[in-house]
Amino acid sequence: MLNLNLKKAYDWPLRVQSRPFARYGSALHLALPEPLRAGERLALEVSYSTGDGPGVCWLTPEQTAGKQKPYMYTQGQAVLNRSFFPGFDTPAVKSTYSATIKVPEGFTAMMSATTWEKQEKDNTFIFKMSQPIPSYLIALVIGDIVSAEVGPRSHVWAEPCLIEAAKKEYDGVIEEFLVVGEKLFGPYVWGRYDILFMPPSFPFGGMENPCITFVTPCLLAGDRSLVDVIIHEISHSWFGNLVTNANWGEFWLNEGFTMYAQRRISTVVFGAAYTCLEATTGRALLRQHMDNTGEDHPLNKLRVKIEPGVDPDDTYNETPYEKGYCFVSYLAHLVGDQSKFDTFLQAYVNQFKFQSIMADDALNFFLEYFPDLKKKGVDSIPGFEFDRWLNTPGWPPYLPDLSPGDVLMKPAEDLAELWAASSLDMEAVKAVDISAWKTYQLVHFLDKVLQKSPLPDGNVDQLSEKYPKISQAQNAELRLRWCQIVLKNNHEAEYGKVKDFLHSQGKQKYTLPLYRSMWSGSESARVLATETFSATAPQLHVNVQNYVKKILGLEPAGS
Ligand code: BES
Ligand code: ZN
Repeated sequence: MLNLNLKKAYDWPLRVQSRPFARYGSALHLALPEPLRAGERLALEVSYSTGDGPGVCWLTPEQTAGKQKPYMYTQGQAVLNRSFFPGFDTPAVKSTYSATIKVPEGFTAMMSATTWEKQEKDNTFIFKMSQPIPSYLIALVIGDIVSAEVGPRSHVWAEPCLIEAAKKEYDGVIEEFLVVGEKLFGPYVWGRYDILFMPPSFPFGGMENPCITFVTPCLLAGDRSLVDVIIHEISHSWFGNLVTNANWGEFWLNEGFTMYAQRRISTVVFGAAYTCLEATTGRALLRQHMDNTGEDHPLNKLRVKIEPGVDPDDTYNETPYEKGYCFVSYLAHLVGDQSKFDTFLQAYVNQFKFQSIMADDALNFFLEYFPDLKKKGVDSIPGFEFDRWLNTPGWPPYLPDLSPGDVLMKPAEDLAELWAASSLDMEAVKAVDISAWKTYQLVHFLDKVLQKSPLPDGNVDQLSEKYPKISQAQNAELRLRWCQIVLKNNHEAEYGKVKDFLHSQGKQKYTLPLYRSMWSGSESARVLATETFSATAPQLHVNVQNYVKKILGLEPAGS
C-alpha cells in the first residue's frame, strides 16, 4: 500500500513503474511539473505498508532458540531493503534516519542506530542514526531479546536462553578489537558497538549493521574460536560503513579492504602465525571457489559487471573477499613498509568517510598519496597492472606471504598426508597429539584431508573414530568440514551428521556447499539432499531457499 503527499502544492502526475529488477519492489517515478532550482528542497511524505518482501523475515516461535515467541528481523544487504521501506536503495546514497517502532507487550525492538530510547507507556522504541549511512545498513529486529554488558561501549543481545552463553563468549574481549581498530584506522564514529545473536536461520556469519552487528548463533562455540567474524564486522566500521562501495560491482572495496583490516587487527592482537593460519583457510575457500567455477569465470574479477535486472546477491562469492585481500596486500607490498601503509589506510578513511566511492577513487588516492610509486608507474607493471587486478578474472597475480603461519600449519599438513596414504601408518598417526590444536589448525587439517579425498577405503572410518573432537564437534566450522569429508568419501554411516547440521542452522556459506556436494555425489547423497531440503526449506532465508532450489534443479520461487 502506498500513499504519497508532497509538501508543496503541486498538481503532479505520478507513475509507479516496474523496472527490470522486479523480483520484488518496483521503481517509483515522480514527475514534477517543473524542475527544482539548485538548493531548493522538496519534502516527500510516503505512507506505505509492507510485510512480505525478502528483506523482512518473520519467524514463528519454533524458528527461534527459545521457541516461545515470534521474531522478526530485516536483512538489507545487498538490495533487499527496498522491500522494507521506500527509498534510494543504492549504496551510492547516504542519509541519516530515525524510526519509531511500536511493538506488542513483551517484545523489544532494536535498530542500527546511534541512539535509542523506550517509551514504557506504549511499548514504543525511538531510534536515531545520526551519521549518514547507505540504505542497506538500516536494520531492525523485534523479538524476545535481552542484553548484557561485555565492554565499556558494548553489549551482547540475544534471546534470554542464549544471553549467558553470549556474554561468556565475548565478555571483556570486544573493546581491545575496537581500540586496535581505532589506532590503525582512526576514530570509531558509531558510538556503541553491540552484537546481536540471531536465530539459527540467519543466513550470514555476520552482518555489519552499524552500532549493532547481527551474527549467527553458530559463533557461540564456547571458546571464542570464531571471533575472527567479529573482528571482520568491526573492521567494516571503517571499510564499508564509513567508506562505501558506490555500487555492488565494486563490492571488493567493502570486503577486500575489510579482510585486510580484519587481518591487521588480528595480527596485532593474536600475532602473525595465527593470522596467517586463518588467512590460509580463506585462501583455501578462494581456491575451492575458482576450482568450482573455473578461473576464467567473469565473477572471478574484482570489478563485476552487474547488468540491469541482475540481483547483486546472485554474484556473491569469495573473489571480492580473498582476491580483494590479495590486491590490498599487494598495495601494501608496493609500499613496502607496514606502518606507512597503515597510515595510508587511515588517510584513505579520512578522505572518503561518509562517502561512496569507486575503485578508481581509491587507487588514484593511493597513487597521489605515494607520488614516488606513481612516478615509478606501479599501476602498470606487466602482469600486475591495476587494470588487470580489477578486470581480469582468475587467480590473484600476487599472494601475500603466509609463511609465518607454517609453525601452526605444517603439523596439520603432515597429519593430513598420513591419513591420505594408501597404507595407514597408525603408529605415526598416534605420535601426533592434536589435543592442544586451535580450531583453525583443525580446520586446516580438514581442508587438506578434503582436498585429498576420497581417502583410501576405511580411512575416514578410522579418522572419525580416532578424533571424536572432530567427528563429534559442535563447532560449526569443524562440522562443515567434517560433513564435506563425509560426503566426498560417500561415508553413508555419518550422513546423519550432514542432516543434523543442516537442520541446526541456515547460514548460506555452510548450506550451499553441502547441497552442492550432495547433489554432485552418489544417488543416496541426492536422496539425503532432497529429504533434508523438504524438511528444512521453510526455516531457510528466502534467498538461501532459492539458491538451494537452483542447485537441486528446482524452480526458484517467484522467478
Ligand atoms: N557484509 C557481509 C555479509 C553480506 C554480504 C550480506 C553480502 C549480504 C550480502 C559480512 O560482512 C560478511 O562478509 N560476513 C562474512 C564474515 C566472514 C568473511 C568473516 C560471513 O557472513 O561469512
Ligand atoms: Zn564483510
